[in-house]
Amino acid sequence: VIDYTIQVRFRHRVLFTDHVFDPGNETLRTVLTEGEPARLQRALLVVDEGLLRSRLGLNDAIVGYFQTHGDCLQLVCAPVVVQGGEQVKNSCLHVSQIHSHIDRRHLDRQAYVIGLGGGALLDMVGLAAATAHRGCRHVRLPTTTLSQADSGVGVKNGINAFGKKNFIGTFAPPHAVINDFQLLGTLSPRDKRAGYAEAIKVALIRDRPFFEAIERDVEPLAQFDPEAMRRLIRRSAELHANHIATAGDPFELGSARPLDFGHWAAHKIEPMSEYRLRHGEAVAIGVALDTLYSRLQGWLPETDADRVLVLLKRLGFELFTGELLWTDSNRRLLVLNGLEEFREHLGGVLTITLLRGIGQGFEVHEVDPQVMERAVRELSR
Ligand SMILES: NC(=O)c1ccc[n+]([C@@H]2O[C@H](COP(=O)([O-])OP(=O)(O)OC[C@H]3O[C@@H](n4cnc5c(N)ncnc54)[C@H](O)[C@@H]3O)[C@@H](O)[C@H]2O)c1
Ligand SMILES: [Zn+2]
Repeated sequence: VIDYTIQVRFRHRVLFTDHVFDPGNETLRTVLTEGEPARLQRALLVVDEGLLRSRLGLNDAIVGYFQTHGDCLQLVCAPVVVQGGEQVKNSCLHVSQIHSHIDRRHLDRQAYVIGLGGGALLDMVGLAAATAHRGCRHVRLPTTTLSQADSGVGVKNGINAFGKKNFIGTFAPPHAVINDFQLLGTLSPRDKRAGYAEAIKVALIRDRPFFEAIERDVEPLAQFDPEAMRRLIRRSAELHANHIATAGDPFELGSARPLDFGHWAAHKIEPMSEYRLRHGEAVAIGVALDTLYSRLQGWLPETDADRVLVLLKRLGFELFTGELLWTDSNRRLLVLNGLEEFREHLGGVLTITLLRGIGQGFEVHEVDPQVMERAVRELSR
């Protein structure tokens, strides 16, 4: 027997800045050159078409930034524009396209692949970066509330396949994440809001004071007040990154996905809705459902459950979608298949997080389908 334990160290950092592509902003330059000041750093940048279309001048600002810092940075070609949104994850076409750019521009493992866009685009670019040459350096610049507060600051990437979310993907900590709050200015109200669901999710399972802070900020958040949004994103990103770095299972080798409260249903209703629902919108519904289930099981006090639903509602979320009532030929709710799919994504025993109080998640290994059905019916009312 040859038996080693291999330890690999990763650094995981999220930097916060404003106007990242202003020529005088040193954040990106520092991230790309740190420790290697004498080298010309080569980078391929992939940008979300939705962002680019809504922010005139961004393309020039990116090119200008790399020209200004041409002593140490080189953009290997014009920014590669790729459509944003979930479609980008629904085939391997875009991943191949980025691989092909990496090949044609002769990028090596020490070169950078930068993703600039929403969570979907970042998941796809992260997969391409992690798999070309078995992993190039990857820098993320998330441009939606959801990606700045959650997905962009994590260590997972992926695309969808076989009607399942994130079926193909890897765990690959990015070289760095840069959250530029100014980039959110052009988001639709819908995409400003969607990310709130992930912040509420993490507050509910981990941090009661954060939940109460969101409650206090409900009015300004509903109006998309920049300072309130900044506070929410900052704390949510902190809690997500902290979990990855300190909870002991960054690559989810166990059976639990402790941060994925409300996600077994969310991941099922997204494809059922043919991705009409944004991930964050599906999470709001999933959180509402598992909150009601926790209450019906007697684990969560009714007043707490009401607070959760009221907060989601006041922020503008729909808490129900017709897909929840779809049934199979045995009149069993189709959404319940999401439980087994959730389990199968990790292996091991089913483990989902539920609530016994605000800020107090706990794990269960069984779900009573009849009680869950009651929760669905209650939500529909
Ligand atoms: N990897 C993870 O750990 C993780 C965690 C949570 C969610 N996710 C994934 O994230 C995805 C959802 O991401 P999302 O909520 O950011 O939505 P999204 O990436 O689908 O973007 C939504 C829309 O906003 C546009 N857009 C992006 N930035 C913009 C800007 N600044 N201005 C104007 N338009 C802009 C996009 O083009 C798109 O049309 C889902 O695929 C979900 O599964 C991944
Ligand atoms: Zn999520």
